[in-house]
Amino acid sequence: MYSKIFVASACFTALVAAAPAPQVAGYTDADATFAQTPSPIGSVATSFGPDSQVSAIQTAPPRGTESGAAPPLVSSELTGPTSHGPFSGTPTTTGAAKAPTTLGTAIPVLPPNPTATYYNTEGVPLNPMPIPYTPAGGLGTNGTTPRYMVESDFDFESIALGLYQEWIELDLFYNGLAVFSEEDFLAAGLAAEDRSLIEFMGNQEIGHATLLTNMLGPRAPVQCTYNYPFETVREFVDFNQKLTRYGESGVWGFINHLDSREVGQLLAQSIATEARQQMIFRQMSGLHPMPVWFETGIPQSWAWSYLAPYISSCPENQTRLAWQNFPALHILNQPNINRFSPNDTALREVTGNRTSDPGISTIPEDESCQHVNVTGYGCGPAIAHNRSEPLSFPGKQVYFDWDAPGQAVGPNNSYITATSAGPPKWVAWVSQLNLTYTPLTTTGDNSGWTYQPAGEVYVGDPAINGTMFVALTDADIFLTPFNLSMINPHVAALGLYQAG
Ligand SMILES: *[C@@H]1O[C@H](CO)[C@@H](O)[C@H](O)[C@H]1NC(C)=O
Ligand SMILES: *[C@@H]1O[C@H](CO)[C@@H](O)[C@H](O)[C@H]1NC(C)=O
Ligand SMILES: *[C@@H]1O[C@H](CO)[C@@H](O)[C@H](O)[C@H]1NC(C)=O
Ligand SMILES: *[C@@H]1O[C@H](CO)[C@@H](O)[C@H](O)[C@H]1NC(C)=O
Ligand SMILES: *[C@@H]1O[C@H](CO)[C@@H](O)[C@H](O)[C@H]1NC(C)=O
Ligand SMILES: *[C@@H]1O[C@H](CO)[C@@H](O)[C@H](O)[C@H]1NC(C)=O
Ligand SMILES: *[C@@H]1O[C@H](CO)[C@@H](O)[C@H](O)[C@H]1NC(C)=O
Ligand SMILES: *[C@@H]1O[C@H](CO)[C@@H](O)[C@H](O)[C@H]1NC(C)=O
Ligand SMILES: *[C@@H]1O[C@H](CO)[C@@H](O)[C@H](O)[C@H]1NC(C)=O
Ligand SMILES: *[C@@H]1O[C@H](CO)[C@@H](O)[C@H](O)[C@H]1NC(C)=O
Repeated sequence: MYSKIFVASACFTALVAAAPAPQVAGYTDADATFAQTPSPIGSVATSFGPDSQVSAIQTAPPRGTESGAAPPLVSSELTGPTSHGPFSGTPTTTGAAKAPTTLGTAIPVLPPNPTATYYNTEGVPLNPMPIPYTPAGGLGTNGTTPRYMVESDFDFESIALGLYQEWIELDLFYNGLAVFSEEDFLAAGLAAEDRSLIEFMGNQEIGHATLLTNMLGPRAPVQCTYNYPFETVREFVDFNQKLTRYGESGVWGFINHLDSREVGQLLAQSIATEARQQMIFRQMSGLHPMPVWFETGIPQSWAWSYLAPYISSCPENQTRLAWQNFPALHILNQPNINRFSPNDTALREVTGNRTSDPGISTIPEDESCQHVNVTGYGCGPAIAHNRSEPLSFPGKQVYFDWDAPGQAVGPNNSYITATSAGPPKWVAWVSQLNLTYTPLTTTGDNSGWTYQPAGEVYVGDPAINGTMFVALTDADIFLTPFNLSMINPHVAALGLYQAG
């Protein structure tokens, strides 16, 4: 582990060596064999073609019935109007999907698997190699034909959840482009090329939705109707960076638990794009692109709890999900990313009462960082920004209130929030590789506070940063990234924290 960190810092220092002067701490007096001052900009190109004619043939991708043609998409691009807003009807069914039988109420805590004993002190392959250059071991490495289909109820429900997420992203990215004008985007610092990028990200979602649909089979969930919490471009991109955060983290939470390695393979290849989307929406929001060393994973029921309130209705016969909807945890002094002074954020300065609602962007201009052009204070779209006054910091007192269980949420108001936890005593902070508990001080039936903790993942990487997850729990059980879902029976309420 230490050697890995060493290699990473060596890479960064190589970049620094090329710059005129050291810009980050920890590396001075670089001795490079190449010029260390940027050459002055000469005459910039102003005419662009015609260009050299390179050797080429005329070709086009095969389509339709031609051999090698790409498979069809499950949905065409949404170009026409779509309706949005809350659901006002009566649900025809309620509650999470269930099997006829449920066997227990708690997963037992067991010792490590008896086969988990491999330990290599030699640094060379220890076991007979099946063929040259091929160390023994691995799953799906013995020549069996891959089958890219879900292999269990766990797989089905996890990928179905992922598909619900891909569908909302598909609608959401196009919706922002449809409801806001080019001028609205320009005022938020986003130009035509940025709009094209958002459209491209929407197109990626069509591909992801198609992939997940194919891996699920005939009962794959279809696209629904949504109810969004934004009225400005800034609020739209803030909502997007929050929504893609739990979309991505939701997948990291289950991907290595899937029965089907094949499905995990393709899912990883789509979530890698989702991760880039999350970072791009952070940059469009003027946030630091990735203020963490590790992206965290969360249980499926967490991802579903965050997502469901934004789905207003789904078509008849929609495949339902088996996951839990936890009561909402509201962070009353959630830092507003639109303030150069996040300390000044008013209580409930968010657009609504759903857990991922964006910060209100229509604050007075002289309190806003949106159009400020001063390092440390501006938060317009950028590759990276420093914040002189952080969004949040260790030791900050964080105020909460939370909903009682039993509320109708999600598509057609047909899911009911539930918890099996006793009275909440702890605040669980889930970020990077860590789960950290701080004591909850209750101030009423459904209100309380705690202090933001200061722990680090590794020295120099504060665990609490970025857009991350908080829950109220009745116990402070020790869990690590691969058994985090054992927290679920202890979760009383669930929220999203805008740390940095
Ligand atoms: C091949 O590996 C899979 C696990 O990846 C295992 O289930 C299967 O039994 C193995 N087949 C043979 C023929 O060894
Ligand atoms: C949800 O509500 C819509 C609109 O009223 C209705 O068309 C649809 O059939 C409902 N879906 C389910 C699963 O009941
Ligand atoms: C829903 O399922 C029922 C029973 O399978 C079927 O009769 C009905 O046509 C389906 N409705 C739609 C809109 O697909
Ligand atoms: C924000 O509040 C913290 C804690 O009281 C304080 O240390 C910090 O200086 C404040 N930030 C500014 C810019 O005043
Ligand atoms: C959330 O806000 C909506 C609209 O402002 C309101 O109708 C609803 O009652 C609120 N829900 C809770 C649990 O406060
Ligand atoms: C920001 O300020 C710098 C330095 O004063 C200036 O060069 C730059 O053009 C400004 N950028 C914008 C977007 O106003
Ligand atoms: C940005 O913040 C880092 C610390 O996080 C600091 O070392 C660096 O000097 C800052 N850069 C600027 C331009 O303020
Ligand atoms: C979060 O990361 C950013 C970027 O490295 C840093 O400036 C900020 O201080 C960090 N926040 C906390 C609470 O450590
Ligand atoms: C965070 O996780 C790392 C890696 O598992 C661990 O070494 C560290 O002690 C944890 N830090 C805290 C504050 O929990
Ligand atoms: C979770 O895993 C850790 C090891 O990483 C173990 O120490 C802990 O006891 C486990 N928790 C439960 C509740 O099984």
